Amino acid sequence: MAHIAYVNGRYRPLHSAAVAPEDRGYQFADGVYEVIKVLGGRPRDLERHLDRLARSLAALDIAPPMTRRALESVLHETLRRNQLANALVYLQVTRGTAPRNHLFPKRARPSLVITVRRPAFPSEREREQGVGVITQPDLRWGRCDIKSISLLPNVLARQSAAAAGCREAWLVDREGIVTEGSASNAYIVDAAGRLITHPLNQRILGGVTRSVVLQLARQDGIEVVEQAFSVDQAYAAREAALSSTSSWLLPVTSIDGRPVSNGMPGHVVRRLMALYAAHLGVA
Ligand code: PDD
Repeated sequence: MAHIAYVNGRYRPLHSAAVAPEDRGYQFADGVYEVIKVLGGRPRDLERHLDRLARSLAALDIAPPMTRRALESVLHETLRRNQLANALVYLQVTRGTAPRNHLFPKRARPSLVITVRRPAFPSEREREQGVGVITQPDLRWGRCDIKSISLLPNVLARQSAAAAGCREAWLVDREGIVTEGSASNAYIVDAAGRLITHPLNQRILGGVTRSVVLQLARQDGIEVVEQAFSVDQAYAAREAALSSTSSWLLPVTSIDGRPVSNGMPGHVVRRLMALYAAHLGVA
């Protein structure tokens, strides 16, 4: 069955759906997005995703394309038309279409595109044995808290990771701090069993999965430290992990080719993976 995309008020087969050449997303990366996980036909953690979308739009002074309720119903209708029980929804809002000019257009209406794909969730092997990451310089701008569609530094870092046979690139700032992954948040567990991850500020995206994982950790009595950690701390960590909507929570078992601890997933990360699966009702 052809995938159906929602584009500015219309449902179209994905292969023939199109946006205007002067869409500001296309010309200026002037837009924001969300990726939402659907399991058993239900979008998961939708409130958190829509809250973040509202924050991203407000930060860029882009008007919401429609009310939250209308957006939810368009999302559900797009899902219904695609008939996928498990899926990843890609939802993008741009400032709209207008003759090319850096200044905000006076009259453009925001564009909304929603596509739905069959998900490529991590394999059993990746969950059991963990994944490798490499470190790369964090070349991004100063507002990484906005889920902007401007992803070129992320794309380049991720490509370097793939070329090195790794799942993800961990981005390192000029002070040697690991901010986050190219498309995921980054964690280590120290010798005291504390879960450490970069604090929420303009250097990272506040991941929906991150917020759920930290909440589950605290409820389970795992000490959470929202504090920057360095590459050297990561090399010396007892455990490491990454999280995102599409990756869930995954053990990181090598960093720049060096095994993390004994090179196998540790018990804190395994516990959190189980709690996250239970949160999604798939335990
Ligand atoms: N990426 N950090 C960055 C830079 C990201 O792009 C993402 C998500 C995350 C994790 O956020 P969440 O848990 O809300 O998915 C962190 C999405 C999945 C993507 O670009 O495909």
